[in-house]
Amino acid sequence: MSLPDVALSVRAGALKAHYEALAQGDTSGSTAWLDTQLRQADRFANELPADPTTLADWTAQRAANVARQYASYLDERRQGAPRQYFSNRAHALYFLQQVAPTKAVDGAWLFGALHHSNDPRFHGLIRTYLEELGDGDAACNHVLIYQRLLASLGCHESLPLADERYLQGALQLALGLNMDAYLPEVIGYNLGYEQLPLHLLVTAFELDELGIDPHYFRLHITIDNASTGHACKAVQALLQLWPDKDQEVFYHRVAKGYRLNDLGLGAADIAAGFDLEEQLLQAFERKRSFGSHMHSDYCRLEGRTVNQWLAEPGSIAGFFVALQRKGWIKRGQPPADSRFWQLVEGPTAAMFGVFSPYEKQLLHDWIAADWQPVQRPRKAAQAIADTNADQASGRAMPLDQLIARMAGARHALPDGLAATRRYRQITGLNGGHP
Ligand SMILES: [Fe+2]
Ligand SMILES: [Fe+2]
Repeated sequence: MSLPDVALSVRAGALKAHYEALAQGDTSGSTAWLDTQLRQADRFANELPADPTTLADWTAQRAANVARQYASYLDERRQGAPRQYFSNRAHALYFLQQVAPTKAVDGAWLFGALHHSNDPRFHGLIRTYLEELGDGDAACNHVLIYQRLLASLGCHESLPLADERYLQGALQLALGLNMDAYLPEVIGYNLGYEQLPLHLLVTAFELDELGIDPHYFRLHITIDNASTGHACKAVQALLQLWPDKDQEVFYHRVAKGYRLNDLGLGAADIAAGFDLEEQLLQAFERKRSFGSHMHSDYCRLEGRTVNQWLAEPGSIAGFFVALQRKGWIKRGQPPADSRFWQLVEGPTAAMFGVFSPYEKQLLHDWIAADWQPVQRPRKAAQAIADTNADQASGRAMPLDQLIARMAGARHALPDGLAATRRYRQITGLNGGHP
């Protein structure tokens, strides 16, 4: 069974493996897999207007609709409605990690455009790709911006995720690596991806409220705008690459590519999939096997040692119940008042360094429950020095080798950034910013 589409539907972890293979540039089986995904996406309604020459208006109209919806969201919030996406900070951290595989290859679907720098019809798509790459500037590279965000929140170690979380990222990589065979689909996917979605606005607003830097999300509100940004370039690319013959087939394939965006859960559904207690128990269950021999026998709770409490798989829930019964955890009160929290948090805590910031946030928010902390001061965005990226590498390298370093899963490394800067120099595609 060599076709991954069959394997992917049955084998747990297969999507992740496919994603990782594509990230390494291994395209084996990827066209058959893309065909399957395109068939899957066929079940969604076609939203595109029948007349492609109206696409610019259509995009502007959609952006205006989203702006209206956002205005009424803000109105509701001003009148005291709760946050729609993130009930607490742990919830937001959960979301940011769930979408990380997609964000780690932001822009990857356009990778194949780099080979067409001599064809002006591709210049809009190439500029879009280079902007996703921050034109080789580490401070502006979208993938790095997201990675810095996760790192600043202590969430850079990847969480075990459902296989489906790798679906959109795998699609993006597969499209970018097979662009010449799937040009109409890439154009359509790009058109869909660069539309301004409501979830981006809500996410940015609520992250900011929770003291989490919303820069990555705000950036995509501005850079993808419909008047001159990526959404506009997406429409222009479609019109410029419009073929002389078989136009109906072309537009049909564009529409199919557009609908690939709808595969898998959307942002709102991913956010809605969060269950604080379930995430807490899962996180502590992952830690359980490490902790089950680490405690001294003096640590006793209801007659059992902590090692005994932690000995059995699935014992965490009972352990937390016991901690509450003994008053070591007082839910609905400031976590600092809980003895168990004092063991976990702070440089002199007995379990200092045992739990990741995300795990601690889960515990904190679960203990706090309905108790509201005073808003924490916002952390300044981390200043990261440019990674001495102008290594000798980029200078005299043939274009093909430069391009290889700019692939969706490689461009955020120092070599990739240097190659990106060199590519825009050689091709002159610098967006008017030399
Ligand atoms: Fe981006
Ligand atoms: Fe974009």
